[in-house]
Amino acid sequence: MRLWGSRMGKEPDAAFSRLSDSFSFDRRLYGEDVDASLAWARALGRARVLTESEVEALVAGLEEVRGTLADPAFEPLPTDEDIHTAVERLLTEQVGPVAGKLHTGRSRNDQVATDFRLWVMRACDRIEVAILDLARAMVQSARAGVDLPMPGYTHMRPAQPVTWGHWMLSAFWPLIRSRDRFALARASASVLPLGSAALAGTAYPIDRQAIADDLGFDSVSPNSIDAISDRDFAVEYLFAAAMLGVNLSRHAEGLILYSGPEYGFVELDEGYTSGSSLMPQKRNPGALELTRAKAGRLVGHLTGLLTTLKGLPSAYDNDLQEDKPPVFDAHDTLLEVLPVLTGLIGTLQLHPSRMAAAITPDMLSTDLADYLVGKGLPFREAHAVAGRVVRVADEKQVALDQVPLQELRVLDGRFEQDVVEVFDVEAALERRSSLGGTAPSAVRDQLKAAEEILSRR
Ligand code: ARG
Repeated sequence: MRLWGSRMGKEPDAAFSRLSDSFSFDRRLYGEDVDASLAWARALGRARVLTESEVEALVAGLEEVRGTLADPAFEPLPTDEDIHTAVERLLTEQVGPVAGKLHTGRSRNDQVATDFRLWVMRACDRIEVAILDLARAMVQSARAGVDLPMPGYTHMRPAQPVTWGHWMLSAFWPLIRSRDRFALARASASVLPLGSAALAGTAYPIDRQAIADDLGFDSVSPNSIDAISDRDFAVEYLFAAAMLGVNLSRHAEGLILYSGPEYGFVELDEGYTSGSSLMPQKRNPGALELTRAKAGRLVGHLTGLLTTLKGLPSAYDNDLQEDKPPVFDAHDTLLEVLPVLTGLIGTLQLHPSRMAAAITPDMLSTDLADYLVGKGLPFREAHAVAGRVVRVADEKQVALDQVPLQELRVLDGRFEQDVVEVFDVEAALERRSSLGGTAPSAVRDQLKAAEEILSRR
């Protein structure tokens, strides 16, 4: 019989049951449901709603139930419509009628909100570990190539030389921002709804703060109607996941390009590439392509939950049951993708000569303008002169550093013999030594800051 079966004259329609039963996905809340039920049983005991021996019986029974549900082979009964129902049914089998006292003053509405928040808090912790593993791999790669010159691109066109370490760390900082976003989502989740009951609050003298302390929540919800309908934390978590997915996708795209034969700056370890059933020569960046693809799924989950929530009237609505699949899947997706990227970056082989060879003298035309600035010309005019030099080089079909000095002097009398020094890539890098710049010295400082963040936890 269903928990609410006595109200109905007949069993639910089978197709409706399939639509409405959530056990298939919310069974993974079993640990949280048992934890929250243990805390509730103790709270009922402290409120003298249950006797000490009743609490003891429930506590022992719930631990048994935890063991039963931990078994992946556990098969629910058709009437186990959700994890809460299954826990109560199994508890009844364990301890008999006293199990029927556990739900005193509680509703599945505050129960599911509590379980779900606990689950999200724990999920954020797991994701943080995986994020930091990847961040460490990035720092290691950046350290290995801290002063390796490579071409930097804007608009996907050659722009200015940068260093490999600088480029790799450009993906580290977004990762740290993601870590911080998950910490914020976790803090949003850490507000206890239990004790809100169906919507109006519980009718028993429950010490809600004690439950929060028991379960590790930072605070207690101040409004029972809000408490059971609030899913902001799930949206914040899904935003953190989507933003992380998008940033990983962008980094993956860069690595797909740089590992291809046209660039050849890096080589992917064979453990992270896939082949073709037809073309024997192929070594495809499958791991990076799937990283890129998973971003779409994560963005979809965020959009999906926001759309589910929009238009819901206050308090609990059955729609809220659909909050879990996207949140679970975002977690699983990230825990699938992050370790793969960690391994891929950890095994990335750098090709410094290919990087250096791809730096062309025209990528130093800004430095050519800066040279004239050094000789007293305002930058805007210096930019125009350098632009003319680029045109002359184009017309003569020579590299920018091959335009003869006398031709340079026609364009501006300030050009002198020392102009050749402009085209020294290492010097160009070293000039960009201000905070956050690409000079190896600045990147070493950046690395120190990154390592300091990683050593904090
Ligand atoms: N399975 C439900 C969910 O996930 C539990 C809460 C159901 N409450 C209710 N009154 N139907 O949201």
